[in-house]
Amino acid sequence: MLVFAHRGASADAPENTLLAINKALEQGCDGIEIDVHQHGDKLLLIHDHWLHRTTNGTGQLSEHSFEALQQLDAGLGERIPTLWQAMALIAGRCILNIEIKGVSDVQLVLDNIEKAIHELNFTLEHFIVSSFDHHLLRSIKQHNPDLKIGALTASKPIDYAGFAQALGAYSVNADVTFVDEAFVLDAKRRGLKFFVYTVDQPADLAQLASWQVDGVFSNGPGKAKMVITD
Ligand code: G3P
Ligand code: MG
Repeated sequence: MLVFAHRGASADAPENTLLAINKALEQGCDGIEIDVHQHGDKLLLIHDHWLHRTTNGTGQLSEHSFEALQQLDAGLGERIPTLWQAMALIAGRCILNIEIKGVSDVQLVLDNIEKAIHELNFTLEHFIVSSFDHHLLRSIKQHNPDLKIGALTASKPIDYAGFAQALGAYSVNADVTFVDEAFVLDAKRRGLKFFVYTVDQPADLAQLASWQVDGVFSNGPGKAKMVITD
């Protein structure tokens, strides 16, 4: 079972920062999940489009210039990183799951990935682009059919993983709250991987491993890896 660091190693460092990515790499994660918002022609690592929860800023991301956003403290003196800074730090050392949140131009994401493949130590295999916005995922798939997409869901749909298969997704990325064995089996029958977020409790890790889930997103990837290899 793969272990992805959720928002980086967000139990040990401020979420979606370079520090959290560094900690995740130190902890030997298999992959790192980050949340991305578009700001003009830039892609930034931040979960919310409001600034107050994760930075010392106020208001919305879009109300501030890129230069002003760069001055904000995202925790422990960390800045809001760009996607490119995160890619340069990871440089192909693990899988990178880019969760696109507020993104209107998917081509920007694809351009970053293509550039990372040329200039950093990444291959296309290193990338998964996921979203709760399945329209964005469809658009990504149309632009680059070979890129893996993860269809996020915070529910247990009536046709289980049918929505992900219809999108041509690589994986279903489901909320731990709604996962049961029938959902996992359905996805596998359709040839899809099954990833689960956010999993920190040893009992959940054990249950998911017994259902042969392919991967989990954990705030504490080091601890999660220790639990599943015990
Ligand atoms: O990608 C898995 C998980 O991160 C989705 O939910 O709200 O933590 O981005 P959220
Ligand atoms: Mg996320």
